Amino acid sequence: MEFNGPSQDAILTDPKVIGKSTRRIDGPLKTTGTAPYAYERHDVVPNQAYGYVLGAGIAKGRITAMNLEDARKAPGVIAIVAATEHEPVGSSDFNHAPLFGGRKIAHYHQAIACVVAETFEEARAAAAMIRTSYEPEDGTYDLAKVAPSAELEKGGWGDARSDRGDFEATFGAAAEKLDQHYTTPDESHAMMEPMATIAAWDGDRLTVWTSNQMINWGKESLASILSIPEDKIRVDSPYIGGGFGGKLFVRADAVMAALAAKAAKRPVKVMLQRPLIFNNTTHRPATIQRVRIGTDKQGRIQAIAHECWSGNITGQDGENATAQTNHMYAGDDRMTASYVTQLDLPEGNAMRAPGEAPGHMGLEVAIDEMAEKLGMDPIEFRILNEPKTMPAHPDRKFSERHLVRCLREGGERFGWSKRQAKPASVSDGRWLVGMGVSAGFRGAPTTKSAARVALDGNGGAKVTTDMTDIGTGSYTIIAQTAAECLGLPLEKVSVVLGDSAFPVSSGSGGQWGAASSTAGVYAACIELHRSIAQKLGIDPQTIRFEDGRVIGAGKTVPLSDLGQLAATGEIDFGDYKKGYDIGTYAGHFCEVGVDRYTGEIRIRRMLAVCDAGRILNPLSARSQVIGAMTMAAGATLMEELAVDKRFGYFVNHDLASYEVPVHADIPHQEVVFLDTPDPYSTPLQAKGVGELGICGPTAAIANAVYNATGIRVREYPITLDKMI
Ligand code: MOS
Repeated sequence: MEFNGPSQDAILTDPKVIGKSTRRIDGPLKTTGTAPYAYERHDVVPNQAYGYVLGAGIAKGRITAMNLEDARKAPGVIAIVAATEHEPVGSSDFNHAPLFGGRKIAHYHQAIACVVAETFEEARAAAAMIRTSYEPEDGTYDLAKVAPSAELEKGGWGDARSDRGDFEATFGAAAEKLDQHYTTPDESHAMMEPMATIAAWDGDRLTVWTSNQMINWGKESLASILSIPEDKIRVDSPYIGGGFGGKLFVRADAVMAALAAKAAKRPVKVMLQRPLIFNNTTHRPATIQRVRIGTDKQGRIQAIAHECWSGNITGQDGENATAQTNHMYAGDDRMTASYVTQLDLPEGNAMRAPGEAPGHMGLEVAIDEMAEKLGMDPIEFRILNEPKTMPAHPDRKFSERHLVRCLREGGERFGWSKRQAKPASVSDGRWLVGMGVSAGFRGAPTTKSAARVALDGNGGAKVTTDMTDIGTGSYTIIAQTAAECLGLPLEKVSVVLGDSAFPVSSGSGGQWGAASSTAGVYAACIELHRSIAQKLGIDPQTIRFEDGRVIGAGKTVPLSDLGQLAATGEIDFGDYKKGYDIGTYAGHFCEVGVDRYTGEIRIRRMLAVCDAGRILNPLSARSQVIGAMTMAAGATLMEELAVDKRFGYFVNHDLASYEVPVHADIPHQEVVFLDTPDPYSTPLQAKGVGELGICGPTAAIANAVYNATGIRVREYPITLDKMI
């Protein structure tokens, strides 16, 4: 089915299941620890051996020799796959450094061997006996040093460069100007479940039970990496303990498990050990950002520019922190540009709203700084500069955009009127207290997605699709969609996900999963409606589904009478989207306390007011936004991979030294959804919301810290050493 908007489906006039707060149907499995994660799937295939991945001990250079003798003789060892005896493999469209390195080392902890043994402990002990000699080369590890030689990105998530009017001239002549730099550090996904795979060969057929956000991408890249046809590969990933972008693409666990299983001639399970993950897998690259804003005397923005410099290994895009600036704030003369320079650090890639999450940490603090220069309230300054159409492409209309409402309603709920504009003027005992605000934007992309819906002959239905649930609630919103479309109670719908044997879905990434995958299920239900109508000899336009029955043309037939009827459907999105700017928007608010003696920063409360289309399940959507706000607290106050600029690796490569927020860091969070269905987004008028939650609270926190103390920190994270 091709969707060309606007959607006016009748099921949306009085939805009974969609839009209702619904507990996650996989919740009990998750909270009781009985949802099996990849490494725990002991039952899927017998005789599983353990693989242990060894990472390179240098960042750049060559392996001159690997002595495998002792390891081969170690107790329990079955096989060793080693870089000196193998061609490098594992480059694909999705990652540039080979996942299994060969002799040439592209980054620190790149996989150079996998030892297979009867137990995990034996595999690990044997791996420690491998002696590797290297010929190291000098590498480039310092972004600040090489940023001036950066070039415009070649691809990436957003426009590498966007120009409208003459920014330089208008900025030069502006009455009030801001020109400021901000930096964000390298960051790691740090999801709970490490990357893990069980691989088994059956002749030339490979099955991987793994943890992956994008089943079909995973199948495609394994086929190209291993040089086998796609139809010989099955990828299965029904439960995922967090992805955050780190599992959008197959990693070394899948490739090494497949190669090791071949060498060992039996199934092999591989988990990337936590201390390996930070350097072996991808991360969010650091950014240097420059924001320039020029206004007239009344605060109307006339010129705005946002530039970003980041680094990555050869051939890979950087972190484009400028993307949101093309959608935000009026101003006829504008420019954004994202530059990337070559670094020999581990490969950077998507993490938690790539681009826009760090982008707000520059733009939305600059807006706060400009408002202060103008003597304006930062909410009023934003509202004064709300554009009528997409500012970088004025011919694109907003489908639905309620950012002003988000800011106004948020301000009222948060008690913004009590904020003191003058920094450091409110205290509570030893705490200096401040409030901050930020606007939030995240794109609302949708992509092709398919599903199969089958009646079970007993009055229930089953949905199958290769969609994944990364802890976000996909099972539940998919069940809600099928229940709504078929007139069934939720309990009558079962959902099976994450298997490449099922129709290809959107997968989970870029905030497109919820909107796209439910649209695919809707398309399958519409196909099923047609088959049912045909079977009953009635016009598909006239049938309704209610209480487990089909009603139409004077007939009422229970679904259980229809046998095992099934249909597959796919949603595709037409060209109409080019004419619209379809996004999600938020007003983010934060209150912090800063200890006047130690500089310790404590978040006191946070609020997000979100405009993100029809909210399919307010309960799980709220959980997503709360999780994202927590990640924003991490990004602003804690998270930072420390780069060793001599040896080229991330020093703090475990969860003891890479700090993430815990419950005690976030005392109070509130999320409000505006009821803003978007008929141009999907047939269900839905959009994603999870990543919107990390786009902006960062700047709201930073702005609150400034309001509390008068100290403006432009180098994230804002740790207490920068406060004193
Ligand atoms: Mo998300 S970082 O696009 O999985």
